[in-house]
Amino acid sequence: MYSLPALPYAYDALEPTVSANTLHFHHDKHHAAYVTALNGLLNGDDQGSLEAVIKAAAPGKVFNNAAQAWNHAFFWDAMSPTRTAPDDALAAAITAAFGDLAGLRAAFVTEGVGHFASGWVWLVVEGGALKVISTHDAATTVTQDGVTPLLVCDVWEHAYYLDHQNNRKGFLEAWFDTLANWSLADAQFAASTGTGQAWAYPLPA
Ligand SMILES: [Fe+2]
Repeated sequence: MYSLPALPYAYDALEPTVSANTLHFHHDKHHAAYVTALNGLLNGDDQGSLEAVIKAAAPGKVFNNAAQAWNHAFFWDAMSPTRTAPDDALAAAITAAFGDLAGLRAAFVTEGVGHFASGWVWLVVEGGALKVISTHDAATTVTQDGVTPLLVCDVWEHAYYLDHQNNRKGFLEAWFDTLANWSLADAQFAASTGTGQAWAYPLPA
């Protein structure tokens, strides 16, 4: 059975960008529902890592619930109530790809605002180069060979509507400025070059 990872901070730790009310719905209801549905669909079988389940799944309910479970767990860790900044290695890659952190911020917000309907906006590294991409619905970088995610922001309406109503741009700007967890991004960037392990969902118990 796959577990629902606990939030790595208090429910009110991300306010005002993300309220405790939003986190109670988003984590305790939405994310929990994906994990419960996935376990039901797998019928208690030991399926190994969630990453393997996602890669093996055909389009459909198992993929959707497994990928949404993974994306949300990574998303919780991609936020921090403590302000952080990219380390020197990541900062150099940001400069190379976007000019500076403001350039990355602009690309990230533009990608998220321009993404039609539900999905995810990601900062990823592929072949040593940083890119901003988005994926639709449950689609995830787990299935993209050679791509390591550094950060992700949920742009489904349930992620921001209670706090920002229809202002997705305002949510993305505040998210990037106040919540982006550069410590996770540093570690993921290092993992992409062979130093340390990339983030992984907890194994089933
Ligand atoms: Fe979500």
